[in-house]
Amino acid sequence: MSEELLRQRDYWNREITQFEAIYSHKKSSLSAWLDRMFRRDMYDRFVYTLKNTEPVADHTVLDVGCGTGRYIMALMQRGCPHATGIDISEQMIGHCRAQAQAGGFSDKTEFIRTDLLDYTPPRVFDVCIGIGLFDYITDPLPVLRKMRDCTGVRLIASFPRKWTWRAPIRKARLALRGCNVRFFTRAQVRDLLTAAGFKSISLSTVGKLFCVTASVR
Ligand SMILES: C[S@@+](CC[C@H](N)C(=O)[O-])C[C@H]1O[C@@H](n2cnc3c(N)ncnc32)[C@H](O)[C@@H]1O
Repeated sequence: MSEELLRQRDYWNREITQFEAIYSHKKSSLSAWLDRMFRRDMYDRFVYTLKNTEPVADHTVLDVGCGTGRYIMALMQRGCPHATGIDISEQMIGHCRAQAQAGGFSDKTEFIRTDLLDYTPPRVFDVCIGIGLFDYITDPLPVLRKMRDCTGVRLIASFPRKWTWRAPIRKARLALRGCNVRFFTRAQVRDLLTAAGFKSISLSTVGKLFCVTASVR
């Protein structure tokens, strides 16, 4: 792993509890209220992704940067036949495996600690998800090309928008914790997806994010 990726991994190993608390709301009521106000797009992109994964019972899924596995658990509960999650953080992968076991989904899920660029998929997945991933990717094109190779039907991804009031604050806050974040214009997202070989690109503004659905044919 590159120095940058090792820093990224260490950051997520440290941040797992804080990150999961954004979903579980296991926080003080003030922090939970702040999340609902200022991280609303994280909840909205979750809804967006589940909707665009339909018909989920017909789709196998690869979740790149699966984090604590919230997306895969929700997909399992909706009848997804198989999902694989990959992540560079061993803490995240350990958490996902425990969640899958607790939910009775171990036989329909697989969690692998790897960088996407080192991953050899055993098959093509119908749907490939990259949510909250491109914020942290320095060179997105090779990652998108690899996702394209892993995808049989469609990609669902999010990209943080450039030129929002929150972008410079977030950049400074995460830089202090050793994590580099990047932001995108609409044209950059479209150009990257096109260069990676995606077609029928649908790009929606969801709060401070772009949410994207794109097909491979
Ligand atoms: C913000 S979290 C998002 C987690 C999850 N997708 C969600 O939205 O709940 C980003 C995750 O991407 C992982 N990640 C970053 N770069 C990666 C890479 N090159 N390959 C695999 N995982 C990566 C990090 O370890 C982290 O867990």
